[in-house]
Amino acid sequence: MAKDIAEGGLDRMLVLEVARVTEAAAIAAARFCGRGNEKAADKAAVDAMRHELGRVSLRGTVVIGEGEMDEAPMLYIGEEVGNGTGPEVDIAVDPLEGTTICAKLMPNALAVLAISERGGLLHAPDMYMNKIAIGPGYPAGIVDLDAPVEKNLKALAEAKGVPISGITACVLDRSRHADIIKAVREAGAAVQLIPDGDIAGVIWTTDPAETGIDIYLGSGGAPEGVLAAAALRCIGGQIQGRLMPSNDEERERAHKMGITDIRKKFKLEDMASSDVIFAATGVTSGSLLDGVRFRGSTAETETLIMRSKTGTVRRIKSRFRDVGQRLPGNGD
Ligand code: FBP
Repeated sequence: MAKDIAEGGLDRMLVLEVARVTEAAAIAAARFCGRGNEKAADKAAVDAMRHELGRVSLRGTVVIGEGEMDEAPMLYIGEEVGNGTGPEVDIAVDPLEGTTICAKLMPNALAVLAISERGGLLHAPDMYMNKIAIGPGYPAGIVDLDAPVEKNLKALAEAKGVPISGITACVLDRSRHADIIKAVREAGAAVQLIPDGDIAGVIWTTDPAETGIDIYLGSGGAPEGVLAAAALRCIGGQIQGRLMPSNDEERERAHKMGITDIRKKFKLEDMASSDVIFAATGVTSGSLLDGVRFRGSTAETETLIMRSKTGTVRRIKSRFRDVGQRLPGNGD
């Protein structure tokens, strides 16, 4: 460990601390799975994440959080978190990624957090971002946000050594994506539509043999784009994103957050520019992670935790005693 600190970068002991934070958020949110109350689920995750962050030895600033100070009581952008000792870091959080899928008890709701050295994460405002992402092992720049869908799919298929029919794109199931979906199918590739949760959508591209997903396409939240970039910085892959402000107020907000060129095509290195740790704990079970399982007063979680400095990817299964009873009817 001493060697690690001496070399700079994030202390590797933080990996376990960070896992505790997403575990706590996931357990708190999971009590509300399937109860149709998105706000309650989100609030539980936010409260738990903030409480747990307060115990970690770091001096953190939330750069991606629940919103601006005047609209979010906790984990707002600029909030100082941590126990006030330890390294100065920037923190991006999504305490409950997929509030609707949690409320409906559908797959792939996650509690997500990324930590970077100060200044290592893009301060992305809460607006849409157009995104394209692929996994590791391809030449840099093989796909491009500004290229036609067919061209990207063709290049990817060639690099993978398969016909275009052997490529599957993951796309959020939204009417705004009708043109993308049509273009993918017309090119001969398949589309996997997801109801929510594009951080998982991007991460799936890193293991196509397991997930069946080769490329992520379409627009989703900009904060989720930065969190996904942090994940890819650890695990490998490429992502590009461009903000999609819908009015002057959003343009102004982006400017205030330091984005001078609103048309900029952000690459992975722009969104996650330094050493990062990324953690996600499953809230509901999905193809990325198992969700929280309550058994009596114990809870079990699965967490994906990765560190960019070494590229180590860990999956941690944890069992917690005495977490209290689940809400009635929430499965086992
Ligand atoms: P929330 O958890 O905030 O509801 O986000 C879920 C999500 O699907 C994200 O993964 C995605 O980036 C965004 O919403 C897409 O936004 P929209 O639902 O407006 O298309």
